Amino acid sequence: MRKIAVIGAGHVGLITAAGFAKLGHPVMAVDQDKAKIETLRSGRIPFFEPGLPELLSEVIASGRLSFSTRIKDAAEFAEVIFICVGTPSRGDSGESDLSALEKVTAEIARNLSAYCLIVEKSTVPALTGEWVKHTLKTLGPEGASFDLAANPEFLREGSAVSDFFKPDRIVVGVESDRARGIMEEIYGSFSAPLLFTDIKSAELIKHASNSFLALKISYINAVSHICEKVGADVNLVSKGMGLDRRIGPGHLSAGIGYGGGCFPKDVASFMHLARSIGYDFKILSAAFQANQEQKQRALEKIKKGIWNLNGKIIGVLGLAFKDETDDIRESPALDIVRLLLNEGSRIKAYDPAAGANAVADCPEIMLCQNPYEVAEGADALLVLTEWPGFAELDFARIKSLLTAPVIFDGRNFLPREKLQSLGFTYLALGRP
Ligand code: UDX
Repeated sequence: MRKIAVIGAGHVGLITAAGFAKLGHPVMAVDQDKAKIETLRSGRIPFFEPGLPELLSEVIASGRLSFSTRIKDAAEFAEVIFICVGTPSRGDSGESDLSALEKVTAEIARNLSAYCLIVEKSTVPALTGEWVKHTLKTLGPEGASFDLAANPEFLREGSAVSDFFKPDRIVVGVESDRARGIMEEIYGSFSAPLLFTDIKSAELIKHASNSFLALKISYINAVSHICEKVGADVNLVSKGMGLDRRIGPGHLSAGIGYGGGCFPKDVASFMHLARSIGYDFKILSAAFQANQEQKQRALEKIKKGIWNLNGKIIGVLGLAFKDETDDIRESPALDIVRLLLNEGSRIKAYDPAAGANAVADCPEIMLCQNPYEVAEGADALLVLTEWPGFAELDFARIKSLLTAPVIFDGRNFLPREKLQSLGFTYLALGRP
């Protein structure tokens, strides 16, 4: 076992810290946010993530996971420090804001004493490792001994705990045998392939993977546009494509597009990196553009089922960027809500986890406690995230509560034939 510290107790850091503690390592999770640390110490989680509360309580009770607000404590405690701080987009340029990473790296440098392996787990553009090493060397004590590794995360919100313990692959960029040995020890018990690369390649694997997944989604969304025009069913087209092992069914479902704290940020950052080295990443900017257009296409489709949007009451099920999360960052559902508000509609909405976050961000939303309350008196119902429960509603009751039987399936997952047999006007993107 190795003494591990994790800096940044967010979606990635908290799962990483609890996961390693569960595997038997003594772990210290550090975050500058005192309130967050107090919440975590009490075993509560400041965001929705299935399975994480149970995992956290277990490892806190075992005494293997401790918390601090000081990086100094981490540097004194740990042999391995995973940096998991946020690297959000800096405005329109898409450039990653690496200021938190620099701040944390500098603080680690100032507190280095014995050998320490510092691991970049935050999503960073390639070449960031060069700056991390430079900062450690210049701000660290004379002759400080450390290594750097890059270990990108592939955790999906809503399934992050299982993604930690059962990843498709583990990618580790290293520059020394000592670093490689430590990372082999830490990840030795995982059954997934453990790929060692140089640091730059490991950094690039993350951006290239997420951008490819975003590209794959935009591709099927573009195909859904063609399906719409020729009367084909994009769900069947996707199914037929996905049976080819080289294509695969994953991230090939058409709908209102991708959002979240990762795809939009990683696509923008990857395009910025390309521009900074003089390459115009046309295929990726096309994927970005297709994703933007998808929300407008959804509005146009909704208008096909509702004559005038102005003054209408629109019911919305799903406000987060997807199901199984309370995260509303770059949520396509909220983008569509704002487009409807701009058209003069009024919005009643429900989301099993993200309601409070959505209303804080968009106060015009009239939040309901369940889908039936949303449908009551609404002129149409939009289903914008694929919570399983939304496909199993009592649709006869929903129809009786709506003023008109119009339903928009923003994730192409509702029982279309059943809805049409009940007399609904069924609207989707790329499904006749
Ligand atoms: C993603 C990557 O999957 C994960 O590996 C990485 O570590 C972080 O970013 P996440 O953003 O949490 O994870 O969610 P994901 O399930 O990938 O969905 C991202 C967006 O794409 C969501 O808005 C989702 O609704 C959308 N999506 C997903 C589609 O529109 N179609 C699909 O087929 C799949």
